[in-house]
Amino acid sequence: MKRYLIAGNWKMNGQSAANADLLAAIVPHLSAARPLDVAVCVPAPYLAQVQQICQGSPMDWGAQDVSAHGSGAYTGEVSADMLSDFKPRYVLVGHSERRQYHGETSTVVAAKAQRALAKGITPIVCVGETLQEREAGQTEDVVKRQLAVVIQQVAHCVSELVVAYEPVWAIGTGRTASPEQAQAVHALLRTQLRAATAQADRIRILYGGSMNASNAASLLAQADIDGGLIGGASLKPHDFLAIVAAAQAQ
Ligand code: PGA
Repeated sequence: MKRYLIAGNWKMNGQSAANADLLAAIVPHLSAARPLDVAVCVPAPYLAQVQQICQGSPMDWGAQDVSAHGSGAYTGEVSADMLSDFKPRYVLVGHSERRQYHGETSTVVAAKAQRALAKGITPIVCVGETLQEREAGQTEDVVKRQLAVVIQQVAHCVSELVVAYEPVWAIGTGRTASPEQAQAVHALLRTQLRAATAQADRIRILYGGSMNASNAASLLAQADIDGGLIGGASLKPHDFLAIVAAAQAQ
């Protein structure tokens, strides 16, 4: 039986008071949420706050990015060492917004994944094609290439990864991949992971891109969809809890 992971991605939203309100509306309702994993990935300045609120609860927490470098003259960057002070379980790497707006290549993403793993933080490696790439029939090539660089870099630690398939055209657009479209890509990512590790079946492959309360159940029912990476709906307690409930009901 798979153990689902529902991870919220707050992106650049929230401030102390709003974060406290949001978590107060979610965390107390998670007590029955095991045996699935639930997490929120929050902006770095709020890791301490979220750690304080969530520790000892069923809610795990994570960061949204980590530096590819260890330490030194990298103004504005946050290292894996620094993150580890706040005991995050996860960190997103290679989110399409980082690739798109910050020029992150798959090589950089792979280095970030490696830095996180070295500190015992699970990287959630995001891959996904743009609309243009999908329409050109390049989806398979694009996602496999993005994941291959990470697989090569982390070598024997592949089974420690979480992978998130997030079609760029579905992120924040309200346009979700159909369960069949998502499953097709998840299946090929699974095949790629199987070629790299005997433990591929325990790697969680999350779907992300306009997952919400009404489409979560049908997506999560797919054989190779092991959870969700939730942007917009993670800011709405009712919706986020509905997605958690949909995972629990599988
Ligand atoms: P969305 O974002 O759920 O708002 O589409 C998902 C993500 O970017 O992780």
